[in-house]
Amino acid sequence: MVCFRLFPVPGSGLVLVCLVLGAVQSYALELNLTDSGKATCLYAKWQMNFTVRYETTNKTYKTVTISDRGTVTYNGSICGDDQNGPKIAVQFGPGFSWIANFSKAASTYSIDSISFSYNTGDNTTFPDAEDKGIITVDELLAIKIPLNDLFRCNSLSTLEKNDVVQNYWDVLVQAFVQNGTVSTNEFLCDKDKTSTVAPTIHTTVPSPTTTPTPKEKPEAGTYSVNNGNDTCLLATMGLQLNITQDKVASVININPNTTHSTGSCRSHTALLRLNSSTIKYLDFVFAVKNENRFYLKEVNISMYLVNGSVFSIANNNLSYWDAPLGSSYMCNKEQTVSVSGAFQINTFDLRVQPFNVTQGKYSTAQECSLDDDTILIPIIVGAGLSGLIIVIVIAYVIGRRKSYAGYQTL
Ligand SMILES: *[C@@H]1O[C@H](CO)[C@@H](O)[C@H](O)[C@H]1NC(C)=O
Ligand SMILES: *[C@@H]1O[C@H](CO)[C@@H](O)[C@H](O)[C@H]1NC(C)=O
Ligand SMILES: *[C@@H]1O[C@H](CO)[C@@H](O)[C@H](O)[C@H]1NC(C)=O
Ligand SMILES: *[C@@H]1O[C@H](CO)[C@@H](O)[C@H](O)[C@H]1NC(C)=O
Ligand SMILES: *[C@@H]1O[C@H](CO)[C@@H](O)[C@H](O)[C@H]1NC(C)=O
Ligand SMILES: *[C@@H]1O[C@H](CO)[C@@H](O)[C@H](O)[C@H]1NC(C)=O
Ligand SMILES: *[C@@H]1O[C@H](CO)[C@@H](O)[C@H](O)[C@H]1NC(C)=O
Ligand SMILES: *[C@@H]1O[C@H](CO)[C@@H](O)[C@H](O)[C@H]1NC(C)=O
Ligand SMILES: *[C@@H]1O[C@H](CO)[C@@H](O)[C@H](O)[C@H]1NC(C)=O
Repeated sequence: MVCFRLFPVPGSGLVLVCLVLGAVQSYALELNLTDSGKATCLYAKWQMNFTVRYETTNKTYKTVTISDRGTVTYNGSICGDDQNGPKIAVQFGPGFSWIANFSKAASTYSIDSISFSYNTGDNTTFPDAEDKGIITVDELLAIKIPLNDLFRCNSLSTLEKNDVVQNYWDVLVQAFVQNGTVSTNEFLCDKDKTSTVAPTIHTTVPSPTTTPTPKEKPEAGTYSVNNGNDTCLLATMGLQLNITQDKVASVININPNTTHSTGSCRSHTALLRLNSSTIKYLDFVFAVKNENRFYLKEVNISMYLVNGSVFSIANNNLSYWDAPLGSSYMCNKEQTVSVSGAFQINTFDLRVQPFNVTQGKYSTAQECSLDDDTILIPIIVGAGLSGLIIVIVIAYVIGRRKSYAGYQTL
């Protein structure tokens, strides 16, 4: 690991840049840029190589392959500030320079462009080049990634322009890192999405084949929506999606560790939106009825399937999870939200409060009827017992009457 200091922005103070060069065998490049507070602001790890075609002195063309072996420096890499976006700048070999720059929008950031420069004046790589000089190839990428997601692309990506072919693989990158912690949420490139066997949210777990295997219970996750600094919606639940297509049901457990929540809270409607690398969005829309109860009114999903096609369905005429305003709805047993014939959601250990959340905590819970049978049993037992007591009392009274009558005859 190599650390050095540089002044990327006048006035912003010292920025410590640490470079971790990858294992010798893999030649992966790795960069962990930190800001003035020593918190990670940009992280990247990737592999690349280039082939460059150039004209030789005898008017024929030659192709050379350039990789980043040898000394690599990251001079000029910056976290970004108000004026400049983050930038990864890499220098390697004799006179090669590579720059990627990033920008941010409301809810996404993007890898805007890659610029690669080589110097045909370098006689070790281009000994017989006809024209000597620095040549730069700019590629516009505009790859959009959700903010706070780590972009992953293990597949080979190839960019071709002019005389240069650029190869990239095993790419991991996150710009605008929040709170100094690289995200565990991965956003996969399209090629990785289609090459994974199934749209399981957990990308490292091998997924079931075409015959659906019995699924284990999904892990419960807690999702929240903020309104300013305050939590306005809370939901804790284990979610299992059941998509039926061509009479085949695929059951997918949502991994809360790699699933994001966003949304909005209004006086009469609240939205909880989940998304992950395979789920573009899974919306739960809550509404208020009769000014005193809330319920789940709408579910709207769009997600990538095994074969790369997109599955989308919505139903805004649902009626689930009904509870009084000011309370939360709770259901520990498995419950099914049937969105359409082709799509249902199985919920486990559910607790949700879309309105009137105070101090970021759930209010009293109203339990679903499925959970209630645990309460019903003591009630039935209790009712049975009190019935028995009544019978005994009646029998006693009748018995006393009889014996009283008996005394009279004496
Ligand atoms: C460059 O990368 C491609 C893609 O991984 C690989 O097939 C090729 O062998 C590499 N070339 C060199 C010289 O390393
Ligand atoms: C051109 O030069 C290259 C080496 O510089 C040589 O290998 C090649 O044979 C030459 N071609 C001709 C047509 O002279
Ligand atoms: C980084 O680049 C600047 C100017 O581009 C140069 O002055 C400085 O010496 C370089 N630092 C390193 C460590 O290469
Ligand atoms: C990206 O970087 C290049 C090279 O530093 C620069 O010329 C270009 O203006 C930058 N693009 C954006 C959108 O910042
Ligand atoms: C960063 O920290 C703030 C305050 O601790 C927190 O509200 C926010 O959710 C964190 N962001 C991420 C992406 O962890
Ligand atoms: C998935 O849906 C199909 C069709 O509605 C149903 O037959 C199957 O039992 C469901 N599987 C699970 C695990 O919910
Ligand atoms: C989620 O993260 C927790 C804690 O890091 C871990 O124990 C759990 O196994 C993870 N769940 C999945 C489905 O990866
Ligand atoms: C993907 O699979 C679904 C169902 O299995 C099918 O309806 C859809 O047409 C397929 N899409 C592609 C692009 O093959
Ligand atoms: C589902 O969401 C999409 C995208 O936000 C929207 O265009 C569509 O109208 C929604 N469907 C319903 C039924 O609300």
